[in-house]
Amino acid sequence: MTEYGELIQQAAHVLRGARHPAVLTGAGVSQESGVPTFREALDGLWAQYDPEELATPMAFQRNPKLVWDWYAHRRALLGAVQPNPAHLALARLEQRFSSLRIITQNVDDLHEQAGSTHIIHLHGNIARSKCVANCQGNPTLIDLTTLDPADDETPPKCPHCGEFVRPDVVWFHEVLPAHAIQDATAAAQRCDVMLVVGTSGLVSPASTLPHLAKQHGATIIEINPAASTISPIADIKLTGPAGLLLPQLVEVLDVEA
Ligand code: APR
Repeated sequence: MTEYGELIQQAAHVLRGARHPAVLTGAGVSQESGVPTFREALDGLWAQYDPEELATPMAFQRNPKLVWDWYAHRRALLGAVQPNPAHLALARLEQRFSSLRIITQNVDDLHEQAGSTHIIHLHGNIARSKCVANCQGNPTLIDLTTLDPADDETPPKCPHCGEFVRPDVVWFHEVLPAHAIQDATAAAQRCDVMLVVGTSGLVSPASTLPHLAKQHGATIIEINPAASTISPIADIKLTGPAGLLLPQLVEVLDVEA
């Protein structure tokens, strides 16, 4: 076992004693997968558009095909990337802690692809689609593979009610899914350790969750190469890329099981 920093040992010691760890991830956990950020995806012909024209309910009402095609473009970009060692380390952590909850701000499905199973998507999941009217309940998820391939009109139509199908992501000016907020709040209140990985802590309500966890007695371990709004309340701050530090943390845990 290569020598790991003292802080990794400390973090592993804290995790070893945990019963209900939780994880909050942001765009930083997908950075080493090369996931294009929202702005990076505004490339080529998309560079002419403003996000407000592509990622709001009003934009979808005004031009559903443009918005659908923008998300098809982002899905294609995401289709080319893989989970990185940070995602894989978190999936290994779930094998040790079956109650582990991952609360993510990311709309990619790299945690799922890495093998994690208890994931709370605060801002939705770009790999999923839903009926714009949520005609069968909120959300009315639609499996695109079950739709008639001969009907190549975009956006596709909901097979239940005929309304448009839209990406299952939270757009600007939309509220977060109530079930996601409830689940994330419960996980933050219940956890005894919260790993905060790759988030600037600038976007609420995600940024309030580490504070809530701390108020309920949790130890906060932050993994981020830079400072964030969470850093001041972190009990242990591991400064560096998640793709390097998370595997080290999990390896120390596993070795000294
Ligand atoms: N490992 C860990 N952290 C990293 C890495 C890395 N390899 N690379 C960058 N980071 C950190 C940055 O230092 C930064 O603190 O990831 C964080 C990314 O911050 P943001 O880009 O603000 O992403 P996030 O905190 O997830 O908030 C973005 O706001 O844009 C909206 O809804 C959108 O969910 C999105 C949220």
